[in-house]
Amino acid sequence: MKILGIESSCDETAAAVVEDGRKVLSNVIATSLEEHKLYGGVVPEIASRRHAESISGVVKEALEQADCTMADIDAVAVTYAPGLIGALLVGVNFAKGLAFATNTPLVPVHHLRGHIASNYITSDVEPPFLCLVVSGGHSHIVAVNSYTDFEIIGKTRDDAAGEALDKAGRTMGLAYPGGVSIDKISKGADENAYKFPHPKVSGCPYDFSFSGLKTAVINTVHNANQKGEEINTADLAASFQKAVVDCLITNCQKVIKEKNYKKFVIAGGVSANSKLRSEAEIMCRKCGAKLYLPELKYCGDNAAMIASQGYYEFISGVRAGEDLNAYATMPIDEKYKTVE
Ligand code: KG4
Ligand code: ZN
Repeated sequence: MKILGIESSCDETAAAVVEDGRKVLSNVIATSLEEHKLYGGVVPEIASRRHAESISGVVKEALEQADCTMADIDAVAVTYAPGLIGALLVGVNFAKGLAFATNTPLVPVHHLRGHIASNYITSDVEPPFLCLVVSGGHSHIVAVNSYTDFEIIGKTRDDAAGEALDKAGRTMGLAYPGGVSIDKISKGADENAYKFPHPKVSGCPYDFSFSGLKTAVINTVHNANQKGEEINTADLAASFQKAVVDCLITNCQKVIKEKNYKKFVIAGGVSANSKLRSEAEIMCRKCGAKLYLPELKYCGDNAAMIASQGYYEFISGVRAGEDLNAYATMPIDEKYKTVE
């Protein structure tokens, strides 16, 4: 069964064809990242315009590279939430037009479920497992009970991990996206040079909080500037990265131990982070759990992961009608409902 995936939730316009949820036949991505770098963050209006310009060509190329026409496609899977609303609407409307014009079933896919599926195209992992989903907009610990049954175990109370890394990177004068720059500049630096608080969160013991850490790094930079002191940016970046990764890994370890998980999976843009990947490895060895990490090329936003999850949603019976809309926010555990 061949699924055409379409993704446009942020600044990547992507299309891919995936066979039976696991075999990537094509994976095409156009990005407007370079334009956003000028502004230090994604400008939604620019992202939407670039999606509108690129989407036809990107989908055409994905079909061509997979040696397919729409006649070979069993379903069109599209990211419908969460994300930038204007950006999502481009993908959703394109997918609707294509699906209904070619009489192909349309399957709505939650972006974070897609990130989790990036592991299905990288390894043979199958649910149930525990997953840390860390992106620019979300930081969740999710119990993946089946391909389409998700349960939120812990989440951030404020900033997402990627968002905190991006903002800290900007304060340190590093290029956007800060998460990528921090990872690069931290190599070989002293991660114990600066001390950061370990944020305490009351209530759910698996929840995160990153806004205090972000404020601490901003204060460190401002205080040094006011006193005319030099900051060692590489050491500061490495120390901040360590603090963020410690918070993520500590909570995941708690869940793995308390709920006796044997499979641990990481997904989302921040899963490309080298420190997170190596600390996860160490933690899983200690806990006796098997670790699964997405291939680096599938960590960031792409449509192969959407086509993969789309396959599992499709075979479980999920379909969208002509009323399919896009949503800026949507919990990962919410079932898709058509409007009556
Ligand atoms: O999943 P993603 O591509 O887009 C969203 O769905 O948000 O995630 C983007 C986030 C950004 O915050 C970016 O800084 C972060 O992923 N990121 C990284 C790395 N690569 C991307 N953070 C840390 N280390 C990396 N190597
Ligand atoms: Zn994403």
